[in-house]
Amino acid sequence: MTGDYGKFITLEGSEGVGKTTNIDVVCRLLEANGVPFIKTREPGGTPLAEALREAMLAVREEEVSAMTELLIVFAARTQHLDRVIRPALAAGRWVVCDRFTDASYAYQGYGRGLDLERITALEGWVQNGLQPDLTLLLDLAPEVAEQRMQERTKDRMESEKVEFYQRVRSGYLRRAAQDARFRVIEAKNTIDAVATEIDAHVSALIRDWKG
Ligand code: TMP
Repeated sequence: MTGDYGKFITLEGSEGVGKTTNIDVVCRLLEANGVPFIKTREPGGTPLAEALREAMLAVREEEVSAMTELLIVFAARTQHLDRVIRPALAAGRWVVCDRFTDASYAYQGYGRGLDLERITALEGWVQNGLQPDLTLLLDLAPEVAEQRMQERTKDRMESEKVEFYQRVRSGYLRRAAQDARFRVIEAKNTIDAVATEIDAHVSALIRDWKG
């Protein structure tokens, strides 16, 4: 018998680690197993949240405060949770989300240096205990990630220096070490090896859900 609630899977990691390719690996596996799901992303996932994403990532003259960034991503997250994520999970659909609150800790907390307690306070307020069931963290040295990204037009976050990305990476790894819902995946491995690993983690969750 399948569970009443869907499962919530998030993918995390810095830019250039291959999140887009690997989110498709997750979705193909769910499809093959007949699991109902939606694929979404943060910041974004609703028209208003996507507008907030554009506002946050646009390259602009004006300096953007770290706290402004944090409030924008949590405003987008509230809308996304209310309109998309919670209704899908309650209807028994799985949610596969490209980034979630771990990104706020990694980027605004460790990257920008904001007090982590502020993020925890917003998290409690907005999520009210809801957490992903599984978080796949794709880990890669920022120098390698940057080489992979050379072809892209960079947004405001992607224009940050490598030191910023080193802090983001170590922030993610610290969080992963503290919480059993994380699986850390070495993104420097071949596409096939990464896909096989993801397959194993997601298959275990499907088995658990089908009971
Ligand atoms: P991406 O989804 O294409 O990687 O772009 C999203 C960008 O937004 C990325 O630079 C990470 C950043 N971000 C934050 O800084 N905080 C957050 O909470 C989230 C969800 C994303």
